[in-house]
Amino acid sequence: MYVLGIETSCDETAAAVVCSEGTERILSNVICSQIDMHSEYGGVVPEIAARAHESLLFPAIQKALNVAQLPLHSIDAIAATCGPGLIGGVMVGAIAAKMLALAHNIPFIAVNHLEGHAQVCSISEDVTFPYLLLLISGGHSQILEVHGLGKYKLLGETLDDSVGETFDKVARLIGLPYPGGPNIEKRAQKGDPRRFSVSTPLKGRSGCDFSFSGMKTAFRTLISQASQSAPLSEQDVNDFAASLQWSVAEALVSRIVNALKMVSDEVRHNKTFVIAGGVAANKYIRARITEVGNNAGYKVFYPPVNLCTDNAVMIAWVGLGYHEKGIHSSLDFEPRSRWELDSLL
Ligand code: KG4
Ligand code: ZN
Repeated sequence: MYVLGIETSCDETAAAVVCSEGTERILSNVICSQIDMHSEYGGVVPEIAARAHESLLFPAIQKALNVAQLPLHSIDAIAATCGPGLIGGVMVGAIAAKMLALAHNIPFIAVNHLEGHAQVCSISEDVTFPYLLLLISGGHSQILEVHGLGKYKLLGETLDDSVGETFDKVARLIGLPYPGGPNIEKRAQKGDPRRFSVSTPLKGRSGCDFSFSGMKTAFRTLISQASQSAPLSEQDVNDFAASLQWSVAEALVSRIVNALKMVSDEVRHNKTFVIAGGVAANKYIRARITEVGNNAGYKVFYPPVNLCTDNAVMIAWVGLGYHEKGIHSSLDFEPRSRWELDSLL
């Protein structure tokens, strides 16, 4: 079985084809990044993103089919991100998918973007349900139990900024280009993580909600103090990057420690932990969280770096899962900017 996936919820226009059998499940993975169009604004401009999706999407779909060496009529289902995300972009992808599905009489599947992140690890790893999931992206920061396709239990989430936003905003304050996360990781390698210290949010508190706005404000204050007499040096930037990365990891670790105490008996028994979302591409964060999981006896998995950040493989993969269960969506399905994972089934 072959499923075409479409992803347009933020600033990546992506299309991919996955198949249900064989050693290579990913037949194509096309991503047209819009970073150049947004970087001069320091973040994604929704109107620019929606217009760019409109012109980039059909060439991306065509390329995904060409690379997979499949004509559209060989595709068994078309899956598209229908939320959560920037509504203009989500609508472009959803409408394109519905149109192709209707014209070619192919089933359509509305996929939740977060579910794509949550499930993609199993395309290459032997991940079994139920598992504990740390989902850290630009739009979301959540800790959940994943009991199956469509079956999620939220344990904690951010009360304010997401982890990705924290990286992006502090990166901007120290003059690093958008998106900040990968640049922070690069510069952190040459920095001193102990030079700028801020308190760890919610440390010592029960539960596993996150809060990052205080950390962002603390860094803003330190950065303006450090740049009062002279512009930041390259070493200052490296040290801020390393200190931020270290502080974010500390905050995540403290919440994971609590989450591991809160999990249900089924998750505790299965001892499987997945880290996903754009920030899961960060090798330092991965290593720190993996250590906590392993110390608790859990097997820890994360997707390959190119499947952590937004892509259409994860959308096609979830679509394939639903298609195999015979679950399809109506062409009336309304795209949405908010769509909680624990409200799916
Ligand atoms: O999952 P994603 O591609 O998009 C959303 O669904 O939001 O995540 C994007 C976020 C951005 O905030 C970006 O800065 C962050 O993931 N990110 C990283 C790294 N790569 C991407 N953060 C830290 N280190 C990285 N290597
Ligand atoms: Zn995402």
